[in-house]
Amino acid sequence: MECTPPAPGPAHNPGPPGPFRAEQPSRPMNPDHPFFIPPEAFRRQDETPDARFYRAPRFVTHLDAGALAAVTQLYREYFPAGGALLDLMSSWVSHLPADVPYRRVAGLGMNAAELRANPRLTACVVHDLNQRPALPFADDEFDGAAICASIDYLTQPVAVLRELARVLRPGAPLVVTFSNRCFPSKAIAAWQALDDRGHLALVQRFFLAAGGWTAVELLDRSPRVGDPLFAVVGRAGGG
Ligand SMILES: C[S@@+](CC[C@H](N)C(=O)[O-])C[C@H]1O[C@@H](n2cnc3c(N)ncnc32)[C@H](O)[C@@H]1O
Repeated sequence: MECTPPAPGPAHNPGPPGPFRAEQPSRPMNPDHPFFIPPEAFRRQDETPDARFYRAPRFVTHLDAGALAAVTQLYREYFPAGGALLDLMSSWVSHLPADVPYRRVAGLGMNAAELRANPRLTACVVHDLNQRPALPFADDEFDGAAICASIDYLTQPVAVLRELARVLRPGAPLVVTFSNRCFPSKAIAAWQALDDRGHLALVQRFFLAAGGWTAVELLDRSPRVGDPLFAVVGRAGGG
């Protein structure tokens, strides 16, 4: 499987009309918005392009076996068998249950070699969400989406969540999972300043600020030993 390369052209410039909605420049949040998050929250120690950081593949796992089993259990509970799924910020490993078939699993991430090695992906695209939060997919394309151990690297998570609400069919779940590990130089300042409970509240705030989500749940699925595992799950609200 070959991955679709990054879209050409400068970020935030709408390209020619295609099957997807033209990219809109992302707007800074209005300070009067009830879920306003100040721009300083999204700064990072390393502001160099993410393409540089992720140029070399990392064939490692980012969570221990117990935490990954908890992620797989969540996917089993929330994602419909036979559905079309989007694995956002994907790598070479899949946490989908091995015994459940899916019609389609699209992966989006930063490293083509990692994505090509992922055994569950049926298609993949290299796409920098911090350059282009607009997703290269059509409205209502997916029955579920996942972000595992990665939400802390997004500098425009609200814009990305708004896009996810667009590409998921109404009622479809987004499962965001995380633990207490990260690449500190690439994680946003707000993440570094908060503990586990604060991370749950922050991700919930991303959903609320994005709008278009219902039934947002905050879950602690930490195994008895090893890495803790938390999740925020929302359902696309259909506009
Ligand atoms: C800690 S890894 C987690 C990978 C995978 N989700 C997993 O559970 O193994 C972080 C992932 O975020 C992706 N990522 C980081 N910055 C990104 C960006 N700006 N746009 C898209 N993906 C990004 C990387 O490609 C990498 O695969």
